[in-house]
Amino acid sequence: MSIILTGSIAFDYLMTFPGYFKDHILPDHLENISLSFLVDDMVRQPGGVAANIAYTLGLLCEAPRLVGTAGIDFGEYQELLDDAGVDTSGVKIIENKFTASFFVNTDLSNAQIASFYAGAMADASLISIKDLNLSKDDMVVISPNAPDAMIKYVMECQELGIPYIFDPSQQIVRLDEDGLTKGIKGAKALFANEYEFELLQKHTHLSSSEILNAVDFAVITLGEAGSKVYEKGQFLGDVPVFKTTQIVDPTGVGDAFRAGFLKGYVRGFDLIICAQMGALAATYCLEEKGPQNQCYMMNDFITRFRTQFDDQGVLDTLL
Ligand SMILES: Nc1ncnc2c1ncn2[C@@H]1O[C@H](COP(=O)(O)OP(=O)(O)OP(=O)(O)O)[C@@H](O)[C@H]1O
Ligand SMILES: [Mg+2]
Repeated sequence: MSIILTGSIAFDYLMTFPGYFKDHILPDHLENISLSFLVDDMVRQPGGVAANIAYTLGLLCEAPRLVGTAGIDFGEYQELLDDAGVDTSGVKIIENKFTASFFVNTDLSNAQIASFYAGAMADASLISIKDLNLSKDDMVVISPNAPDAMIKYVMECQELGIPYIFDPSQQIVRLDEDGLTKGIKGAKALFANEYEFELLQKHTHLSSSEILNAVDFAVITLGEAGSKVYEKGQFLGDVPVFKTTQIVDPTGVGDAFRAGFLKGYVRGFDLIICAQMGALAATYCLEEKGPQNQCYMMNDFITRFRTQFDDQGVLDTLL
């Protein structure tokens, strides 16, 4: 089984303003607001949901296929992903655009002003699952991306009979009822956090049990309360978070969780072990700044896993 990760590929531009935005906003002059904040520093870090999942799966020696659109500025980023063991041959470069970019400026009170430029991501529907030469043994993950592309991939996977995991997360608000319902009903599995799972129910008018019964399995993450795993509509169990040594930055924690889970899933491990692997991969991500800065070897992962969870030796097969 190979894993095909579709979804956003982006750069995050993070700036910090050494003051308070509120001191510069004139409530009486909002109609001609004009502000420019001189910032002390800026970092550009790799991001995007599919790329984040791919990075961690690369660390876990899975060589996932990343499928998405990026822009003319993707070169260096591509090298980083290649070095991490990701197969980037499925990334289509859109010649006249930049890679999707998230610009966020944070002030001293953690207030944020952000802009998201979709850039090359807006053209993700130029990619077709039909061109990827997949088989029914492969697994496509449909993560946040241009909404039309997400629906296109859902319909193509269904037509080809290729199993897919539906992971609409941030784009739930941009997909309509029909698209979300089709996405869920044809899916092998569903990933969502607790809030997104509620939103899915609201937007599809399906009950929680209708959604959980529509898929083979579902994983609902609950931040520091861990995750819940369901199989064929039945609750399988709660998985706690993996103990952290320090929390540096939560960006990408959900993506890292998915990667850890998927690593176990392709190896045929039981779903609770998969979610425990997700919890540890998420913790490694929390302990570094940025979604693609954590670094570890498979044997470190297994040794650390066993300080909290008992895999009955099955993780030995990963070595
Ligand atoms: N504070 C924490 N300590 C340890 N682990 C955490 C913490 N927060 C999240 N995790 C781990 O990450 C998993 C996913 O977290 P969460 O439910 O916050 O995802 P998310 O909302 O999709 O995150 P994201 O902001 O990346 O989209 C959790 O199930 C848990 O294992
Ligand atoms: Mg998330």
